Amino acid sequence: MKKIVLLGFSLLFVLSFLECGGKYTSPGKRAVNLFDFDWKFHRGDAAGAEEVGFDDRGWASVDLPHDWSIAGPFSQDNPSGSGGGYLPGGIGWYRKTFSLPAADQGKSVRIQFDGVYMNSEVWINGHYLGKRPYGYSSFQYDLSPYLEYGMGENVLAVRVDNSQQPNSRWYSGSGIYRHVWLMVTDPVRVGQWGTYVTTPEVSREKAEVRIETLVRNDTRTLKEVTLATTLVDQKGRVVASNEKSFEIQNAEMHEFTQQIQVDRPHLWSTGDPYLYTVYSEVKDAGRVVDDYKTPVGIRTFRFDPDKGFFLNGEPLKLQGVCLHHDLGPLGAAAYDRAIERQLEIMKSMGTNALRTSHNPPAPQLLDYADRMGFVVMDEAFDEWKRPKRPYGYHLYFDNWAMTDLQDLVRRDRNHPSVILWSAGNEIPEQRDTSGTRILKTLVERFHQLDPTRPVTSGLNHPEGADASGFADQLDVVGINYHLGVYPQEHQKYPKRKLVASETASALETRGIYHMPADSLIYRTPDMYCSSYDNCWVPWGSSAEAAWRASAANDYIAGEFVWTGIDYIGEPTPYPWPARSSYFGIVDLAGFPKDAYYFYQSQWTDQTVLHLLPHWNWEDRAGQTIPVWAYTSCDSVELSLNGKSLGVKHCTDPLQYHVAWQVPYAPGTLSAVGWKDGKQVARAEVHTAGAATQIQLQPDRADLHADGEDLSFLTVRILDEDGNLVPRSDNQVTFDVEGPGKLVAVGSGDQLSHEDFTANHRKAFSGMCLAVIRAGRQQGTIRVTATSPGLQSASVTLKTE
Ligand code: GAL
Repeated sequence: MKKIVLLGFSLLFVLSFLECGGKYTSPGKRAVNLFDFDWKFHRGDAAGAEEVGFDDRGWASVDLPHDWSIAGPFSQDNPSGSGGGYLPGGIGWYRKTFSLPAADQGKSVRIQFDGVYMNSEVWINGHYLGKRPYGYSSFQYDLSPYLEYGMGENVLAVRVDNSQQPNSRWYSGSGIYRHVWLMVTDPVRVGQWGTYVTTPEVSREKAEVRIETLVRNDTRTLKEVTLATTLVDQKGRVVASNEKSFEIQNAEMHEFTQQIQVDRPHLWSTGDPYLYTVYSEVKDAGRVVDDYKTPVGIRTFRFDPDKGFFLNGEPLKLQGVCLHHDLGPLGAAAYDRAIERQLEIMKSMGTNALRTSHNPPAPQLLDYADRMGFVVMDEAFDEWKRPKRPYGYHLYFDNWAMTDLQDLVRRDRNHPSVILWSAGNEIPEQRDTSGTRILKTLVERFHQLDPTRPVTSGLNHPEGADASGFADQLDVVGINYHLGVYPQEHQKYPKRKLVASETASALETRGIYHMPADSLIYRTPDMYCSSYDNCWVPWGSSAEAAWRASAANDYIAGEFVWTGIDYIGEPTPYPWPARSSYFGIVDLAGFPKDAYYFYQSQWTDQTVLHLLPHWNWEDRAGQTIPVWAYTSCDSVELSLNGKSLGVKHCTDPLQYHVAWQVPYAPGTLSAVGWKDGKQVARAEVHTAGAATQIQLQPDRADLHADGEDLSFLTVRILDEDGNLVPRSDNQVTFDVEGPGKLVAVGSGDQLSHEDFTANHRKAFSGMCLAVIRAGRQQGTIRVTATSPGLQSASVTLKTE
């Protein structure tokens, strides 16, 4: 067995207390150890694997985050079915052997799992710690009573059971797919998720910051405990502090309440996501024994029945997207960088709001939302008591819903990004009084735990939910689809606050165009969906129509488009072999579809002029091709091979694209855009020649040598002039040397059954993706991409 001594990855803060205005440094008493490396893994059940002496030498060595389902294979026989992308589930075991220094004896040692899908059971040194059915909840166990210190070894064993399928309407992944942390603290300490920071009063002149802190005394004696709380600004300067003392009995806890005033606070907003930090220092007889850090954003928000959403008193239309938790080719494995990249792509499109459909997100998603400036609808459930899937959450609702809800709120309620709790998505009980009763209980609990945020739910039967009294229980009523009911809901219930909690379900495949562009084309024999925004589900609408309904009505706070990014599973409208969604504005590899530019033209202040489709219609020579431009310009002139095809004006603010019918001839389509009488934009699309070369482009070349950083390499198949060859599907093979490894490959092809963990991938519509995971050594990684008949490409990445 491998012995790991916990020295390496302590995220210790090393600091001391200074007067107001000085720099703050933390005393560094709390050790929060990332526990992701050097696990043993076995796919399948293993009798006795919880025992210390179990022989795991034959098991695979893995690092977390880990999702065993993503390695496939895809099969129509996998019981996850279309919802789960036809990928396997099953049972898996993990074991980790570690030692602790003798000095840790007498400390409080706890293990925190950010999320394990699903039905995890955990043992330490053969002692059973518990079971957690819901795969999206974060949870902790106290290991202290069962540990060996000094020379002794400890074995943590985790059994994961995702064998009862189908249990989800989307791809869940399987395993310890989020981080694990080992926390070592003094027994006198801040409790789990033990701070609750609110801002009861906020103005431009001053803010009141209220901090409730739960401090535990897990020793055998009474303790005189002092809590020193310091608010620090983004530059590390002390803004204000407060100190209080209390005698806490042995094995008891106490909730301290402190209030701090901030003059001229720097407010948090989506455009300027300014964060303060609250540092909580726990002192036992004057000696600092624990410290705890809580990021804080000072902001106000409200929903108004007539005027929508306001942040810091200013109206802010929610330009939101729904996101499932998977990270495309990486599956559910919740790498920080993969989450950050998804949010960067969403931000660049103009997104300012996220809905964590339909479950608690990875904790770091909210850290990024706080830092990058998104507001978030944090959603608890997709099912209550009535099933959507045979083995869904309804099996656990009675025993676990309150615990899962409570842990969600306690974990997430300090994030300034979170503006709404969602009690559930399209809950089948919304149409009857049993649902109303359950909702009432859930809403009460949300309010008790966090009186500062409204509760919503995404209704897919708004009229039924009106009749049952369900909608009346909600602070903000979420309407999924049903664009046509917005006016009547607003008129009938003028006091209701409304948000379009889910919209569009428009379908696109990157690089695919079905004509005519202005008719709905739902299914075609190629099993792809058209990128002219002319394909959507019967309960949905085009992307443009959905945005129009929010944009035109002030009383709608904004929309959450289904979905920002493609996800595995739910390949509506196609059966097998389709295995991943067509709903994304961005494809499964993270590459923008045309719809991305529609949103960018409406949701940002950037100058956008994007032409579609590609210009390789050799099979349609002489026929007419619809050419569209998504633009923020006032007018656009299109030319083919230098000959003008006319100027189109974008005069109606609710009309979002301009179009021409162009008889196809190869060459160059070019467009120029004007704004306020000035030419501000140009765009060109060339007919590409034969594929001759590979272009390899990393999103980042300097990586952290932390074992988890990622570089996403975009592969483009180009002709000799550097034009993307839009229909190319060349297979590209990747070779990696140095301190990094290839962890995933992908493309936007919803029909591909290629292995996401292979070293090669076929391009789709001219593009594919390779993901490199940094090692823990410093050095140079060389990635080479080759394909028969094409000039290869290489890039160098550094780990530091
Ligand atoms: C909604 C549902 C989503 C997704 C979507 C597809 O009704 O809330 O989870 O299934 O439909 O259009």
